[in-house]
Amino acid sequence: MKIAITGASGRVGGALVEHFHSRGFEVIALTREQLDLSALDFESKLDPGWDVMLNPAAMASPDLCEQNPDAAQRVNAQAPAKLAAWAARNGVRFLHFSTDYVFSGDRSGKIALEEIPTPRTVYGISKREGEIAVLAANPQAIVARISWIYGATKHGFVDSVLARLLRGEPITAICDKFSLPTHMKELAGWIESLLASPARGIVHACHRGEPVSWHGIAEEIAATLKKHQALPASATLSAQTLAEQSTFLAARPIHTAMDCISLEQWIGPVSEWKTALHRFVCDAVTTKKHSHPWG
Ligand SMILES: NC(=O)c1ccc[n+]([C@@H]2O[C@H](COP(=O)([O-])OP(=O)(O)OC[C@H]3O[C@@H](n4cnc5c(N)ncnc54)[C@H](OP(=O)(O)O)[C@@H]3O)[C@@H](O)[C@H]2O)c1
Repeated sequence: MKIAITGASGRVGGALVEHFHSRGFEVIALTREQLDLSALDFESKLDPGWDVMLNPAAMASPDLCEQNPDAAQRVNAQAPAKLAAWAARNGVRFLHFSTDYVFSGDRSGKIALEEIPTPRTVYGISKREGEIAVLAANPQAIVARISWIYGATKHGFVDSVLARLLRGEPITAICDKFSLPTHMKELAGWIESLLASPARGIVHACHRGEPVSWHGIAEEIAATLKKHQALPASATLSAQTLAEQSTFLAARPIHTAMDCISLEQWIGPVSEWKTALHRFVCDAVTTKKHSHPWG
């Protein structure tokens, strides 16, 4: 089975390349150099012999999108639509990645699949346009909305917090913005299962569990480390509000935790985010103990 994966240098794309390679697929890893989505004239670089195409490539920084709205629209909306249309014409199964940031995040609680997104940032608007355009061009496509990925080679918030706490460094984390953290290894397994299912349309590809803030995730990591006597005394954790975080250019939506009913409908029950996070932290503790058996 030949599977082409865009954004191969990215957090999600890189992890998917590793996953599908380890599962015995023939992987075609596409970096920006091989397939530049901003140019929109890339069709000659696509191979109808591929069985599946995954599209995690994106302008994924909300701040960069705010500064470059035209490029964001091209890469996050027009290019995915072209890929989806090409896949439909050539009988290639197509899966596109989207984001919880398509939601305005004004209401607390979990977001159901039926909720119509009303994004307010350039990033969110361009990703929502991408969802709509992909499904219009290719109604058989899957659009996987994901959130707060960790456990990939390219580190995100959870990975950095864990590394810093293990080193005994202080952490400051935002306490008034809520979503669900997603273990990349589990996401990769869900994607494989979705591809093997008759899934189509939008899927909220996230864990079960209650919405949590970045500060709440950091607390959970610290508690797990403490339980395993792996939290240095010098590690501290303090809270900060979104309003106090002055480095964000684009406004961040506040409540974007999605419910995973649409995912479970296709692939069966998925784990709670806390279970997945505990497993991830325990693995990191074990690895650390093995690499420093004296400490
Ligand atoms: N990570 C998360 O927590 C998260 C949360 C919600 C949704 N998502 C969604 O998940 C997907 C993957 O995100 P990610 O975290 O993997 O992002 P990422 O680490 O920033 O990776 C994005 C990838 O897209 C590539 N890319 C950017 N512009 C391109 C262009 N013009 N042509 C071709 N490739 C281009 C990048 O290549 P370069 O390395 O050359 O820049 C990189 O490989 C995105 O759709 C994002 O919206 C991610």
